[in-house]
Amino acid sequence: MTQSATDNEHPHPDLDPHLGQILVTHDAIQRRIGEMGEQITSDYAGRAPLLIAVLKGAVMFMADIARAISLPVELDFMAVSSYGTATKTSGVVRIVKDLDIDLSGRDVIIVEDIVDSGLTLNYLRKNLAARNPASLEVCALLLKEGMQKVEPDLRYVGFRIPDEFVVGYGLDVAERYRNLDDLRVYVGPGSGH
Ligand code: IMP
Ligand code: MG
Repeated sequence: MTQSATDNEHPHPDLDPHLGQILVTHDAIQRRIGEMGEQITSDYAGRAPLLIAVLKGAVMFMADIARAISLPVELDFMAVSSYGTATKTSGVVRIVKDLDIDLSGRDVIIVEDIVDSGLTLNYLRKNLAARNPASLEVCALLLKEGMQKVEPDLRYVGFRIPDEFVVGYGLDVAERYRNLDDLRVYVGPGSGH
């Protein structure tokens, strides 16, 4: 089947008018994940943590952080749908796909792509804590500074970033840009810029 030129259009990120500057390069992401992985490896020595990522934004981070941890980790995934506009969540979350693995007695680490208002994480933390894990911590790649009403309890944070809408490395706008290597500022429709 032939596709129209528009469907096939994948301009280089530098040429895409909806993309702004690179906020964190792929190399910087990988370096930081290496450090976080070492920290988790030493904090959880002798244990087998269960990493839980929320689809889909955290998929790239999950794949890389899991390989940066030198312990027998297990992986599981959840899918949630949050009500809100394209670039803002409401904190009202519905579980669309639940976990396969029982959390009781497990050392659970929630692997999050980005904490903005913190509402999604709040909901998740409460939901997972009710399943009796031995421990429950959060590892977030990105934290938007000053956006949370209450300081979120994050054991591991990759980068603190300003209040910009970012895409790439798993993060999307309407499902696009997840496969970009770097994290970039989104300046297109709906970004408020
Ligand atoms: P929160 O509930 O406001 O903390 O939003 C958390 C979720 O919203 C994240 O897990 C992302 O899926 C999405 N999100 C928040 N900020 C951004 C962003 O800058 N780019 C892409 N997705 C974002
Ligand atoms: Mg998302």
